[in-house]
Amino acid sequence: MRSELAPGSVTLVGGGPGDPDLLTVAAARALGQADVVLIDHLAPDPTTFLRPGAEVIEVGKRPRSADATSQDAINALLIEHARAGRRVVRLKGGDSFVFGRGGEEWLACAEAGIAVEVIPGVTSAVAAPASAGIPVTHRTLTQGFTVVSGHVAPGDVRSTLDWRALAVAGTTLVILMGVKNLPEIVAELIVGGLDAATPAAVVSHAFSAELTVVRTPLRQLPEAAAGISPPSVVVVGDVAALEFTHS
Ligand SMILES: C[S@@+](CC[C@H](N)C(=O)[O-])C[C@H]1O[C@@H](n2cnc3c(N)ncnc32)[C@H](O)[C@@H]1O
Repeated sequence: MRSELAPGSVTLVGGGPGDPDLLTVAAARALGQADVVLIDHLAPDPTTFLRPGAEVIEVGKRPRSADATSQDAINALLIEHARAGRRVVRLKGGDSFVFGRGGEEWLACAEAGIAVEVIPGVTSAVAAPASAGIPVTHRTLTQGFTVVSGHVAPGDVRSTLDWRALAVAGTTLVILMGVKNLPEIVAELIVGGLDAATPAAVVSHAFSAELTVVRTPLRQLPEAAAGISPPSVVVVGDVAALEFTHS
């Protein structure tokens, strides 16, 4: 990882799940060198890390909101600022390569001849459960975890996930962007053979004052999560019953 951002380059920075304390050292250093930062709404506030005069551009991407900047427009902004010789940081929530469209941005910049670097971030897929005391693996309970997007409901023609296979995979299931489709997802998992009594949890607004945690058996998950707003991570598996917070 380069310690100095080059003029005319783009650095894709994973900002972690929202708390600036969970930015990596490399992320903080990159922010401190940036001339311009393009920021998503789930990314941490970078203000304290920026040098005077650095420009911050909010590019939204709030799901289904009118203020979201299209991906093409974001790619164009990254290229435009880099071509102007600026040190560009693209700051995202979590990790840029976990449902963060970092790959698309990397390709767009590389195809435009712009030097691109990636600084990985702490993904909410692991950190949000941890904030509720849920380890995504735990010896004797599960030997792995599977991270999926619940953005597209099972049965939707755009879905590429085999939810019934996930039901019998034997790993913890971590679902991002899945609250809206929980009734369909839970139904499919149970039809696929997952015990309806399997522990489940929803962790919402992790690392903020609005943190909400709901724990319930899988069969009751859709009702229990009905009032929960995004961003939320859903955990299904025996580890969801654990609560390693304070000793
Ligand atoms: C577009 S995805 C981006 C994921 C991100 N790149 C990552 O690695 O965490 C957005 C989803 O991440 C999850 N998420 C992000 N931040 C969260 C937080 N602070 N608390 C709970 N879930 C969060 C939610 O499932 C949300 O809908």
